[in-house]
Amino acid sequence: MKTKLDKKTLDCLVQAAIAVKKNSYSPYSHFKVGAAVLAPDGQIYAGTNIENASYGLTVCAERNAMFRGVCNGQRQFIALAVCTDPVEGDDFGSPCGACRQVMAEFMKLDAPILLVSVNKKDQTKVLKKKLKDLLPLPFLKPGE
Ligand code: THU
Repeated sequence: MKTKLDKKTLDCLVQAAIAVKKNSYSPYSHFKVGAAVLAPDGQIYAGTNIENASYGLTVCAERNAMFRGVCNGQRQFIALAVCTDPVEGDDFGSPCGACRQVMAEFMKLDAPILLVSVNKKDQTKVLKKKLKDLLPLPFLKPGE
């Protein structure tokens, strides 16, 4: 059965991204990120950013969430949520270029990407985009 992208389902995904953010391993940037992806069967996979003393080895929350799903046998995700503290005042954190390219590997271009910011008073804001808004003119698998 294909999971519907209704409000309740997307709210669950947002909550999963918010909840996992506390496990972020980010002793260098102190910038905690949580992400969650939804698979067609309704399973949610969550991940955080994981940093390293050798800074370049850091892996973002979005890729850790997607890779967790892939390691569990998933090959397609129908939505992704990413949660950060508000960036520069009131703005949303937004996925890096590398994560956008990995999204294009495992998500359709019209899949919703929910940018979530939670401030110090626990007020949550959500900005809904599509992958094609974040990654125009994507490089896709040759032949597709
Ligand atoms: N980060 C993410 O987890 N996702 C992004 O899309 C952008 C950046 C992490 C990487 C690093 O641990 C911290 O945020 C600061 O760049």
